[in-house]
Amino acid sequence: MNASTFTTCWLPNDKQVPTISSLHITLCSQAKVLERVCLTYLNRLYNKIEISRTMTSQSEIIIGTFNETNQECQIEMELDGFIIRNEQRKTYVLSLSEQGLLYGTFHLIEQLQLGSKREDISVVQNPSTHIRMLNHWDNMDGTIERGYAGRSIFFDQDELSYDAKRIQQYADLLASVGINKISINNVNVHRVETKLITESKLRELKELADIFSENYITLYLSINYASPIELGELQTADPLDDEVKTWWKQQTKRIYQTIPGFGGFIVKADSEHRPGPFTYGRTHADGANMLAKALAPFGGNVFWRCFVYDCLQDWRDRTTDRARAAFDHFQKLDGEFDDNVILQIKNGPMDFQVREPVSPLIGALKATNYVIEFQVTQEYTGQQIDLCYLMPQWSEVLAFDTQIKGEGTTVSDILSGNVYPSIQTGITAVVNVGNDSNWTGHEFAQANLYGYGRLAWNPRLTARTIANDWVNSTYPSVNEEVKQMIEKMLMESWVVYENYTAPLGVGWMVKTGHHYGPDVNGYEYSPWGTYHFSDRDGIGVDRTKSGSNYVNQYTEPVAEVYEDMTTCPDELLLFFHHVPYTHKLHSGKTVIQHIYDSHFEGVKQVERLILAWQQSKDELPDDLYEHISHKLNAQLENAKEWRDKVNTYYYRVSGIHDQHDRKIYR
Ligand code: GCU
Repeated sequence: MNASTFTTCWLPNDKQVPTISSLHITLCSQAKVLERVCLTYLNRLYNKIEISRTMTSQSEIIIGTFNETNQECQIEMELDGFIIRNEQRKTYVLSLSEQGLLYGTFHLIEQLQLGSKREDISVVQNPSTHIRMLNHWDNMDGTIERGYAGRSIFFDQDELSYDAKRIQQYADLLASVGINKISINNVNVHRVETKLITESKLRELKELADIFSENYITLYLSINYASPIELGELQTADPLDDEVKTWWKQQTKRIYQTIPGFGGFIVKADSEHRPGPFTYGRTHADGANMLAKALAPFGGNVFWRCFVYDCLQDWRDRTTDRARAAFDHFQKLDGEFDDNVILQIKNGPMDFQVREPVSPLIGALKATNYVIEFQVTQEYTGQQIDLCYLMPQWSEVLAFDTQIKGEGTTVSDILSGNVYPSIQTGITAVVNVGNDSNWTGHEFAQANLYGYGRLAWNPRLTARTIANDWVNSTYPSVNEEVKQMIEKMLMESWVVYENYTAPLGVGWMVKTGHHYGPDVNGYEYSPWGTYHFSDRDGIGVDRTKSGSNYVNQYTEPVAEVYEDMTTCPDELLLFFHHVPYTHKLHSGKTVIQHIYDSHFEGVKQVERLILAWQQSKDELPDDLYEHISHKLNAQLENAKEWRDKVNTYYYRVSGIHDQHDRKIYR
């Protein structure tokens, strides 16, 4: 296929050929953004659109709050929820708020784009949580920590530097999937970024905040806990010191004077060499509450990260288990945090590995607000070179039964506020976006950004539905069979990636520092607390009662399942147990044979992906074909490297032959 329909996003694209003739829209709501969104995106689906402000007999789509449209709201609605209903050939997009109208309008656009008839669209949607956030790890020099899609869209050469049009497009992409909060700078706040909260920077930030706020997205900043010292104004950052408290209060007041809609702070404290309250013998509650008190008069929040562990561990020390750290630090502080503090808990106890159990801290806090933190940027899942669609992973996390209040207390129930209604809960994630023209480096990695928003809005959506919607709205002109093939590629990709990387939940084995590619012992004798303890007899980390007793952080029924080798799921076996290579899995294979088989299979699967892609060449736009081929070939090289290094390593330490006698380098 020659004509390029290479789309840069899931919203209707310029190049899309309108299939429907004309449309009359009545905007009862005054919100400017609605007009812009209709003119930009609905316009691309129709030959002609007309917009009026008052309802006439010609109005076909009417967008307004219940009050503005004199429509009744007969059911209980969240402020940012929406209804789309049809009456007498008119389609109403209704909500209690303008924000809800924006989500409703985007939903209508998506449905039309997916081929639904206007008259058939009938939905009621309420988001499952009010916190649907994204965190950028952008540095002001323009680099992005763990970024794989070019440079920052916000910063360059230590300055704010952005293309307002592009930011607006970005804000549209985010609002179209319901994202409502964003932090724009790295949680590791270095010297230059510390100054973001000073007067001159705030004035520049105001314009950026305004672009986002037009789309009801609130701007947050990551701050340096030691700012009073680093900005040269105080000798201490002790949270109980009166001068420190006053300093933050004044600073915060100045922020709100310039940016009235400012959201608040993200704080990485006492973590990976970042300063924090431990320096002064204070707790994380002391630190977070001090900042919370400065933000409270303005309605701001502190997102306080729980990624606190000893990154200077002695590998010889077998008594410390990094997996225990978040729970050990924060569970005992439950109930001590102010109402506007929100803890931020990584989805697993370690660090965004391809497979981890759910963090036991989720569900364990009963009187503290918190969000789960996912990683959309693929630091440990292929770095946007390898294909890894993450919805299956996140859906599994969200569907996990914590049993915190008996059977059926899933993570998504908890995060939706159904279990402890008095606390605020929600979702955040480290984003995968940079200034690459397709936003995410690997074009298919857009599906992770899109899917994250969809899941944050509705955690019960299936990974397949999301993949299907993404493929259909991103590639409207590609034929059905090819769309199905892309969907299949996405759906398989997580397991494929898992197959050729670290086995059975043990994690790590990545090259140190940048974390791409295999290095079985890269972190084995390091201070980071990330070990697999392989020796000639076996592999895995004993986190049962006989080991670090990490299992005990879960509720009893969950702990029992993990504690017992015979009930522990295969895919997490080595996370919880140190076992001999000859240990039999539920699958019937021994651990060593599983290692060999999954690594050979992983490479084969990538080869099959490439073949399927090649067979569709004629049906794909050239640029898309080339782009994905290039990525898949690089992925194949990576997969082979993993296969050979892992298989050789385990053959050498175990001395056990592959039952199928395949090529293992000796
Ligand atoms: C990982 C990652 C770091 C990041 C950290 C965090 O360790 O490699 O780059 O700063 O997570 O979440 O704070």
